[in-house]
Amino acid sequence: MPAPLRIGLAGLGTVGVGVIKIVQQHAEMIAMRAGRPITITAVSARDATRDRGVDLSGLAWEQYPVALARRDDVDVFVEVMGGHEGAAHDATVAALAAGKDVVTANKALLAHSGHTLAEQAEAAGRTIRFEAAVAGGIPIIKSLTEALAGNKVRRVMGVMNGTCNYILTRMEDAGLPYEMVFEEARALGYLEADPNLDVGGIDAAHKLSLLSSIAFGTRVAFDGVEMEGIGAISIDDIRRAGDMGYRIKLLGVAQMTGRGLEQRMTPCLVPCDSPLGQLAGGTNMVVVEGDSVGQIVLRGAGAGQGPTASAVMGDVIDLARGIRTPVFGIPADRLESAVPARSAAPAAWYLRMRLLDRPGALAKIATKLGDAGISINRMRQYSHADGDAPVLIVTHKATRDDIQVALDSFRQTGVLVGDPVALRIEEV
Ligand code: NAP
Ligand code: HSE
Repeated sequence: MPAPLRIGLAGLGTVGVGVIKIVQQHAEMIAMRAGRPITITAVSARDATRDRGVDLSGLAWEQYPVALARRDDVDVFVEVMGGHEGAAHDATVAALAAGKDVVTANKALLAHSGHTLAEQAEAAGRTIRFEAAVAGGIPIIKSLTEALAGNKVRRVMGVMNGTCNYILTRMEDAGLPYEMVFEEARALGYLEADPNLDVGGIDAAHKLSLLSSIAFGTRVAFDGVEMEGIGAISIDDIRRAGDMGYRIKLLGVAQMTGRGLEQRMTPCLVPCDSPLGQLAGGTNMVVVEGDSVGQIVLRGAGAGQGPTASAVMGDVIDLARGIRTPVFGIPADRLESAVPARSAAPAAWYLRMRLLDRPGALAKIATKLGDAGISINRMRQYSHADGDAPVLIVTHKATRDDIQVALDSFRQTGVLVGDPVALRIEEV
């Protein structure tokens, strides 16, 4: 049997412990599949005294991830600490400088520094694998870089943050308001340490920017993602969308257009009976449209110990087999700079607002829509005993910019109460 591939594992939290479990439980099967044994030689975490629930005897302990990354008895540095700077960044740089391949689950790190790190890796004849960073256990990176490599990708989209999908599904199922379900998600441990990474759409936007790079051969352009979180979605929005046959999802869409790369991660309405509309709980779904293959839908656990560690191990096993593809599918020095473009494709829009209950109020709003060249498809004013009138409008197709013009002009009417909510109705 050839020499083992030796892992240095930085991070012994949810994912790191999952990696240890797989290596320990499936050692023989993995050795056969990889063509050589895979072992963990050394680990690092902040607290050396904590019981992690797995056997760490026989593994060297390094207090500093950078020192772990430089060890002579480490072939592959597995980074499962998290954070886009600090230890994760420094140790990844150190590992590449020391001639190691890197496997990471860290989408934040790659969204911020992916291109520089890819250049460093490839200059050294090494690679960075990151299957676990996007949609947890779903093998979307491998699908894009390998199985679908013969396709010109037209569009990539999906639900890539399980926590947001859990919150939106739970609001609908239990009829609970956002704030209450947010606290439930916190109690269940679903939220990132900084919850805004989840509910602000940032985590999902990190993931979308990585997929865009591979799909369109562009440098990672996280700054170019049009982003909006789910914090403004009310239980009424969910119910009203449902009345019209739609569900609200935090949906990522990336496509290359003649004007540049469109990337958006925003709450959208999708048909209830579509695969995306039926996606419940913390599950993720990624949809790829290629010129030859047509539409591919991948669905599975987007987070959790087993699914994420499964993805990490898939990458490690590929490295043990000697498979070393460019980080983002093509060599980093061939990736083009993405020209960011705001999405201009017209869509139907769901507009929800509250108006002063006075004569002519609705007419003023309808006039402003007409002035912006937007045609109303459906309109409804919900019953209200007194006070402000809840109004819902579904438009015919309009661009984001025209909708923005209309929303801005609503404020001049003097009848708008608070901020209106505008959600795109996505054709999927
Ligand atoms: P976690 O449970 O918080 O574990 C993080 C680990 O990193 C801990 O063991 C921590 O040590 C260690 N660590 C943090 N800073 C360190 C430092 N400066 N030096 C040494 N060790 C350090 O995180 P996780 O959920 O496993 O996530 C790890 C990575 O995977 C993140 O990038 C995350 O975004 C990504 N990811 C996670 C999931 C998931 O389902 N959890 C899914 C997809 C991707 P201590 O334990 O001693 O504090
Ligand atoms: N916070 C992320 C989610 C974890 O909810 O999907 C997996 O990346």
